[in-house]
Amino acid sequence: MCGIVGVIGKSAKEIVLNGLTNLEYRGYDSAGIYLNDLQGHQYLTKTVGRINNLKAKMLPDEEGLVGIGHTRWATHGKPTVNNAHPQFDQIKRFYMVHNGVIENYQELKEKYLKGVELQSNTDTEILVQLVSQIVQKKQVDPFTALKAALAEVRGSYAIILIDNLKPDHLFIAKNKSPLMLGLGKGFNLVASDSLSVLDQTKEFIDLQDGEVGDITKNHIHIEKLTGEKVTPKSYQLKIDPSQVSKGPYDFYMLKEICEQPNVLRRLTQLYLDENGNPQVDQQITSVLAQADHLYIFAAGTSYHAGLVGKLLFEHFAQIPTEVDFASEAGYHFPMLSQKPVFIFLSQSGETADSRVVLQEAIKRKIPSLTLTNVPNSTLAREASYAMALEAGPEIAVASTKAYTAQLAVEAVLAKAVGMKLQHKEAHDFDLRHELAIAAEGIEQIISAKAKIEQVANTYLLPSRNAFYIGRGIDYPLALEAALKLKEVSYIQTEGFAAAELKHGTISLIEQKTPVIALVNDPVTADLLRGNIQEVLARGANVIAIASEQLAHENDDVILPTVNYYLTPLISVVVAQLLAYYASKNKGLDVDKPRNLAKSVTVE
Ligand code: M6R
Repeated sequence: MCGIVGVIGKSAKEIVLNGLTNLEYRGYDSAGIYLNDLQGHQYLTKTVGRINNLKAKMLPDEEGLVGIGHTRWATHGKPTVNNAHPQFDQIKRFYMVHNGVIENYQELKEKYLKGVELQSNTDTEILVQLVSQIVQKKQVDPFTALKAALAEVRGSYAIILIDNLKPDHLFIAKNKSPLMLGLGKGFNLVASDSLSVLDQTKEFIDLQDGEVGDITKNHIHIEKLTGEKVTPKSYQLKIDPSQVSKGPYDFYMLKEICEQPNVLRRLTQLYLDENGNPQVDQQITSVLAQADHLYIFAAGTSYHAGLVGKLLFEHFAQIPTEVDFASEAGYHFPMLSQKPVFIFLSQSGETADSRVVLQEAIKRKIPSLTLTNVPNSTLAREASYAMALEAGPEIAVASTKAYTAQLAVEAVLAKAVGMKLQHKEAHDFDLRHELAIAAEGIEQIISAKAKIEQVANTYLLPSRNAFYIGRGIDYPLALEAALKLKEVSYIQTEGFAAAELKHGTISLIEQKTPVIALVNDPVTADLLRGNIQEVLARGANVIAIASEQLAHENDDVILPTVNYYLTPLISVVVAQLLAYYASKNKGLDVDKPRNLAKSVTVE
C-alpha cells in the first residue's frame, strides 16, 4: 500500500506528479511532494485526497532537480495533511517517503525520541526523526544514520530519504515493500512500481530486501544492511505502453473486463500445445503430482479463485485440496499432510498476508508455487516455482482479468498433474477447445452488456443491499461476485451457498431485495430453483443468471454453454459488468473505490 516515487538529476515536478498519478492504485487518501532545486529553494506540498488536489495546490514556479512524492493508504493516523508524506524531522532537514509499516515505532519513540515534538501520528515520522537524532548526536553522514536507524526497525519499508544539506543524493532502503530503480542518462528514478515511470526509462533494477542505496544523478551505490556491497543487475522492461493506457474506455475496469477473452487465448498459446497437451515446467508438474495434499493460500479475489481451484484439482488431478485465507494461515498454520505442496495465488505477487505463509513454508522446506501476474514480484521470487498469469497490467483496484487468468492457469495445472497421474478425467478434458469456447462465450456476454447495465440500473441501483446465491461451483463464484459488487458500488452484498439462506440469513430478505441466482450446476439446479422460490415468496427481486441448458424462459441472463468446470469464467463476467455499471451509474470512481488499495502490502 502507498506509492512512492523519487527523481534526481532532471526536472522533478512533472515526473513525480505523473509517477504518483500512476501509483494511485496503491492508495489515494492523501498525497505529498518535496522538491529541491539544488540552489537553496525547497518546496513541500501535502494534501488530503487525490493527486489532482496536490497538483492544484502547487504553485507554477515550484520546481526541483530532485524530488520525492507519496500517495498514501493510511495505516497509522487518519488521512490528514500532517499525516501525509513526506514526513520530516523537527529541524526540517530530512524528508522521507515510506511505504510499509514500522511495527516497533512506539518502542522507538519511547527509547529515542523523548522530548521530540511530533507533528503527525505516523510511524514514518518516528523513523525520519530517529535518522535526524542519529546524525546530530553521532555526527555521522545521513546514509550511515539511515542504516543505523534501520538496524533498530522491525517491519516493512520502501523508503526514500532526502537531506536538504546534501540534496543531490537520494537515500533508499527496502524490506518487504517493493522498490525499484529506474536508470536514465544523467538522471535516476526510484519508484514502488516500474510502470509508474515507464515514460522516463525502460531500464530497471529491482531492489532486494535488506538493501540500502545512495543514489545520485550519475551514480548508484547499493549495499546490504550488513555492509556487503551489492552489484545490481539491470533489465529492460518489455512492455507495450498501450497495455497501461485506458484507451477508449471510461474506466480501466471495463477495459480489463473486455480483455478477458484475449487473456484466455494468450494463456492457451502459452500453456497448451496444438494438441491440447499442457506445456508446464516438468518440475512443477512432478512436484504437484507427488503431493498428497495441496494447500492454496490467497486473499480476496485470489482466494475466491483458489476455491474454484480446489474443485479443479480435486476433480482432474484427484488431489485433496484445502484453501485458506493467507492472513489466517500465517499465524494459525493448518495441520499439514505428509507431503504437502503450497500454492500461492496473487495478482500482485506482493500481498503481505501471503508472504507471511510463504516465509513459514520456506522455513519448513515445503515446496511452493506462486501463480502471479507480476513475474518478478516477491511471491514469485521467493517461492520454489512460479507461473505467470499473463493477464497484462491490471490497473483497476477491482480484480477482473487476473481472476479469470488464475482460473485458467489452475485448470491447466489440474489437467497437467491429472495427466501425469493418469486420471481419465484429465486426459478427456479438452482444455484447449474448452478455453476457446469460454473466450467466445465471454465475448458474447460483453456484446450484450447493455442488457446487463439495464439489470444493474433496475434492480441494484435503488438498493442498499443484495445477495448472490449459488450451489456447487456457483458458490465460490457467488463469493467473488458479491465481493466485486460491494467493492466498487458500496452496495452491501453477501454471497451464499443457496441452501444456507434458510438457516438464518433469509430473515434479511425484504420487499425488492435483489437476489442474484447463479444456475450452472446441473446436479443441484432444481434445488436452486426451489431456493429462488423461497426468496421470491418473501418479496425478493430475483435476477437469474443461468447457463443455456439449465435456463428457464424468464431468466435474466442466459449464459453460453461451456464445460461445467469453466462456467465461472463466463458467469463472473456478468457479475463484473453488474458491479461496473452499478458503480459507474452511481457516479462513483469505479477504478478507485474508497478506502482501498490495489496491492495490499501490509498485514
Ligand atoms: O494481489 P493479490 O491477488 O494477492 O490481492 C489479493 C486481494 O487484495 C485482491 O484480490 C482484492 O480482493 C481485490 N481488490 C478484489 O477485487
